[in-house]
Amino acid sequence: MADKISVLIPEEAVDAKIKEIGERISKDYEGKEVHLICILKGGVFFACELAKRITVPVSLDFMQVSSYGNATSSSGIVRIKKDLDDSMEGKEVIIVEDIIDSGRTLHYLIPVLKQRNPASIKLCALLNKPDRREAEVQIDYLGFDIPDEFVVGYGLDYAQKYRNLPFIGVVEPDTGEEPERKGETVE
Ligand code: IMP
Ligand code: MG
Repeated sequence: MADKISVLIPEEAVDAKIKEIGERISKDYEGKEVHLICILKGGVFFACELAKRITVPVSLDFMQVSSYGNATSSSGIVRIKKDLDDSMEGKEVIIVEDIIDSGRTLHYLIPVLKQRNPASIKLCALLNKPDRREAEVQIDYLGFDIPDEFVVGYGLDYAQKYRNLPFIGVVEPDTGEEPERKGETVE
């Protein structure tokens, strides 16, 4: 069985955009240190590439969340599956996420993390689907706005596959059906 994948954003464009975001962050945080919080698993490829492009000192931590949803969107009920290893207190935090879709996950998570007393907290996302927004989220650093299509690559999966693709692609599943997002989904 082979899913058909068409390129939406080529590798070169993704890499160039990450370099650009890295330069912006380096400038904005000049004289400071940044603490990147990568949301597993989808954010991991983006977070690593971004970290390599930031010239101020960087520390990294990881969090994994899961959300309960139906076929088309997450419910906003978020469970922390893996919490951070390090304290965020007094740190200049940037949350690094693969994609903001309904917005529900980050709408829930940001206030929770703010309670842990970081010096500041910003959100950086590689992709954004504005047409799907259901809960308000402010994205401080964004790669690309994309149309309402199910995408894979650069950390994003379809049934845990295709995270390793070096570009952003649109997947047309073999079955011709929309990807299922029922029950608890690990982001
Ligand atoms: P939301 O913003 O709470 O709806 O959830 C965003 C999460 O849903 C992302 O972190 C992804 O894990 C997942 N997601 C949303 N859209 C896509 C997509 O097009 N491809 C792969 N995962 C997606
Ligand atoms: Mg995710």
